[in-house]
Amino acid sequence: MLKTIEMLLQDMSEKNATLLTHSLNVAKLSMVIARNMGMDEEFYYTAGLLHDVGKLLVPNALLDKSIAIGKEELEILRNHSKWGAELLKLLGLEQFSTITLLHHQDTADLPLSVQIVSVADKFEAMTSLWRQYRKAMTAKEAIDELWKMQIFQSTVIEALAIAQTELITDKKGQFQGGI
Ligand SMILES: [Fe+2]
Ligand SMILES: [Fe+2]
Repeated sequence: MLKTIEMLLQDMSEKNATLLTHSLNVAKLSMVIARNMGMDEEFYYTAGLLHDVGKLLVPNALLDKSIAIGKEELEILRNHSKWGAELLKLLGLEQFSTITLLHHQDTADLPLSVQIVSVADKFEAMTSLWRQYRKAMTAKEAIDELWKMQIFQSTVIEALAIAQTELITDKKGQFQGGI
């Protein structure tokens, strides 16, 4: 299993540096959230690492677009959840496939495991500078956004709030990418 995960990480780093940075940040956040909730931190580290693995199958031209993308392109990009889940099943990593499949499903009935990685993913995306077409939010603004969505359990958002302060923050109070 480790060999396969290492191989996927290598593929991600060769394909797109931002994809790798984002995946590593989501992995760390997911791990600390899980730890704060008394859950399996190693499992959630790996789940965070692999949540966007389907982006390996999305052209870099789409991943790196710095402006809002069109309808067809959005459709291709959206497929990364489904493709990622399929890829994980093929590689014998099916224990992570549900999280990967559902991580963009913004509904109130998400399993707890999906919620953990999904809040980490959204928080990382909102607070990082890699989304060039949008200004990065502060940690507080991002957490407020997650509350407003009304789809995540309060325990998960509270665990994220603690997790992000436990991880390195910069002087402006923003989540620091690449930790
Ligand atoms: Fe994603
Ligand atoms: Fe993501």
